[in-house]
Amino acid sequence: MNRNLHKLFDIANKPVRRIIGLMSGTSLDGLDVALCSISGSGMDTKVTLEYFDTIAYPVVVKDEIRKVFARETVDFQQLCLLNPWLANFHAVYIHECLYQWGLEPKDIDLIASHGQTVYHSPKILHQRNGFPNATLQIADGDHIAVGTGIITLSDFRQKHIAAGGEGAPLALYGDYCLFSKAGEDRVMLNMGGISNFTFLPGTLDATAVYVTDTGPGNTLLDAFARTYFGVEYDKDALFALQGTVNASLLAALKDNDFFRKPFPRTTGPELFNKAYVENAQAVSNTTGITAYDMMATLTCFSADTITDALGSVLDADKEYAVYASGGGAHNPLLMRWIKERMPHLNMHTTGELGIAGDAKEAVLFAILANEAIAGEGIDFGKPGMPAVTMGKISFPA
Ligand SMILES: Nc1ncnc2c1ncn2[C@@H]1O[C@H](COP(=O)(O)OP(=O)(O)OP(=O)(O)O)[C@@H](O)[C@H]1O
Ligand SMILES: [Mg+2]
Repeated sequence: MNRNLHKLFDIANKPVRRIIGLMSGTSLDGLDVALCSISGSGMDTKVTLEYFDTIAYPVVVKDEIRKVFARETVDFQQLCLLNPWLANFHAVYIHECLYQWGLEPKDIDLIASHGQTVYHSPKILHQRNGFPNATLQIADGDHIAVGTGIITLSDFRQKHIAAGGEGAPLALYGDYCLFSKAGEDRVMLNMGGISNFTFLPGTLDATAVYVTDTGPGNTLLDAFARTYFGVEYDKDALFALQGTVNASLLAALKDNDFFRKPFPRTTGPELFNKAYVENAQAVSNTTGITAYDMMATLTCFSADTITDALGSVLDADKEYAVYASGGGAHNPLLMRWIKERMPHLNMHTTGELGIAGDAKEAVLFAILANEAIAGEGIDFGKPGMPAVTMGKISFPA
């Protein structure tokens, strides 16, 4: 047997595996690196988050990714070069984290790498006859494996699509295994560039689990914070808090087919981008509103579309525990408006469940890698939610 397979076999049989989950979402803020100790699999999965760090992308990395990110037309050489280039950065970041944490590559069993999404194109977005759902993540797994010396699983989303899903949101697998609680209906609400939630029924009935993207989280706020104020994001909503929501623009922003499609649905900055907002401004005759009013209106757009989506699956007369994660959980105005619109939600953060909100997505990919090596895959019995083993395996040598 190939020695790499031996090693993998041994890892699968370990009582506890140390897996580094990597996540770099659509916000392009940086690489989330979560070192997890994981035992068991499926509903018996137990995770301890040993260490977590976000390595901020330097400006050069953001600039190079933005040349292809969510663009319909790109320089093909740029895309080709970015794939190994970014992976090499990720490998260096892992070495830096391990050094900080007093560890070495030999202390780690696996890396679970999400990769950098550069394009997400479900059928509802591309609407091209005969073409499937599609998504593309770069930062090649072989390069990360060779660069770190650690077996790397990557490119998790392709199997989901191959088996009939949209390639997203994948959070439901880890959310269900880690955070389901008998007797408590829970909502795991992640507000990254795009927002999504997983509904976890207190009955633990897998067929009643629900996941969908809701629309924008921070992506539009970040885009306009950059345009108007030259900063990466609206820290603590300081700009939005100085503005007033413009009702005409808000109505125009909400007037899109995406919000009328059935769940589960997925989306990205391919749809929710500056052009989307500028079009809504033109339609609603609001091109002249102040930068502060724009920020307030875009924050309201995120809050409303999150609560509209939640409202369409939750009973208005029942109480739910909502566990927020992602950068949007740090936005006080977004959190306040969600709470005001849905008083029957009890707002918490995933930190209260032992996994810091900023680390959650990276941890969930570590869970997927654990499941691929030591688990069975989870069947939710629903279209778009296949029971599959996800991730491609790259050996370091
Ligand atoms: N203090 C804060 N106030 C307001 N917004 C914040 C704050 N801290 C972080 N954010 C927002 O969170 C964003 C980063 O969120 P996050 O890392 O969860 O998104 P992501 O990388 O796109 O991940 P994904 O889309 O996969 O969930 C930042 O770009 C910013 O908009
Ligand atoms: Mg991020």
